[in-house]
Amino acid sequence: MLLRFSLNADLITSADIPDEAVAAIGQAVDEANKSTFQRGVPAEAEPNDIGRIMAWNAAGTALHLEIESGPYTRAHDALFRFRKQLAPVLGRHRIGIRSIEVTAFTVRLEGTIDPAAIPHLPMIRETAADEEGITLTLDVSPTDLENKVPDRLVRLIEEKAEAHAYGGKAEHWELIYESPKQPVQFTDDPTAEMLKRGWIKHGASRGQWIFGPQPVQLFRAFETIVIEEIIRPLGFSEMIFPKLVPWEVWKRSGHAKGVYPEIYYVFTPKTRDPAYWEDVADYYKVTGEVPVEMIRDRLDGPIGGMCYAQCPPFWPFVQGETLANDCLPARVFDRSGTSHRYESGGIHGIERVDEFHRIEVLWLGTADQTVEVADRLHEAYTRVFDELLELEWRCARVTPWFMAQEGLVGVSENESIGTRDYEAILPYSNGWLEFQNVSVNGNKYPKGFNVKIQSGAECWSGCSGIGLERWTAAFLAQKGFDVSKWPERVAKLMGEPEEVFRFL
Ligand code: SER
Ligand code: ZN
Repeated sequence: MLLRFSLNADLITSADIPDEAVAAIGQAVDEANKSTFQRGVPAEAEPNDIGRIMAWNAAGTALHLEIESGPYTRAHDALFRFRKQLAPVLGRHRIGIRSIEVTAFTVRLEGTIDPAAIPHLPMIRETAADEEGITLTLDVSPTDLENKVPDRLVRLIEEKAEAHAYGGKAEHWELIYESPKQPVQFTDDPTAEMLKRGWIKHGASRGQWIFGPQPVQLFRAFETIVIEEIIRPLGFSEMIFPKLVPWEVWKRSGHAKGVYPEIYYVFTPKTRDPAYWEDVADYYKVTGEVPVEMIRDRLDGPIGGMCYAQCPPFWPFVQGETLANDCLPARVFDRSGTSHRYESGGIHGIERVDEFHRIEVLWLGTADQTVEVADRLHEAYTRVFDELLELEWRCARVTPWFMAQEGLVGVSENESIGTRDYEAILPYSNGWLEFQNVSVNGNKYPKGFNVKIQSGAECWSGCSGIGLERWTAAFLAQKGFDVSKWPERVAKLMGEPEEVFRFL
């Protein structure tokens, strides 16, 4: 995509620019165009691609500049470099640069750009489309330019354009393993069967189940298998990750880029002074209704949301640290609580819910170590599903979860980075259910949370989410409810289903 920036700005000076200074300004402009703006530009860049002061003039307390660029030393970067270079030049005439006024800023994008990819943002004053592309006229302050707003805007448009171009195609999905077939033992929906048997009941909240003792026996059986067959042999240690995730974490993890429609948001009281809340409590006591609007007025936030992806809130533990070579690959896991996603219309059975339970496995180290752990995990899972659970399942390479959760599509440019989804067949619907994943996330998280390795090697990480509801849904859908027909290890760990409640 062709990219051009043009910027008109006035540098406002503390006093009139004297005629004697004009020649020196001219020299500074030449030097900027010839050398300052060339710094850091790759050798293959065309002269036209690099920031350049095209015209300037000094009048009174304003130095008027017209700057153009392609993708290198973009017009706004050139502006700030030039200001820095000019300050000592004007200083010799006892003149300071007081402020910058941006009088015009346009971005030109050429290539096939779907108009739907142009975001509606207050900073875009006008969008003009023609045969070759679009011109965006921006309303930006110098602070916006220093904060690289134009660059983020361009990146966002590129991402949206990619997503639109991809939109028509099916999601990225590439089969990499298929298990042996298994005999069909059951053909009903296990959720309906569990409800019938009184094993589960709907929770009071949407997409939420109350699991009775029997399915929890099965959850725990799976947990034991995961711990004994996968987590311990591969050297993972248990941690407890927080379950309330503030924006600070989601800004670094990338979730702040896309997860808004699915968050369970969290707010805090403006104060814990009982007097401040008395009328709320009184309203409820008198009417029997909880006054939601009154409560809303007394809240701060949202300060973030409830656990969504499970691994991001781990990262502040290592944030800003340099990891000793000999502690790598560091391998941990968390099974301390629920994850929450607002699934809207998508809720189904116990397998697609707003509140779910997952063991999250996480590791970090060099690139090689990270890929190696992912491969060991994949082998261990394969053995467990084929030999211990006797599932009919398959594994596919899909869009990395961290990209999908940011609203991105496709796959990573680096072949070793990505997500493998594990899917099990559901005989009752003949559909496939994703019941867990394994991912190599590259340097995404170490970079976002500024984690380094002693040796100077790039730090990578990976994670794997083991969904207990999903394992249960897949297993029961294939094996049914007659424990005597289950694979031996699972049956033994499960024991007799405990009938604690009898309803009259
Ligand atoms: N964090 C990963 C995900 O959200 C694995 O659990 O899919
Ligand atoms: Zn994860």
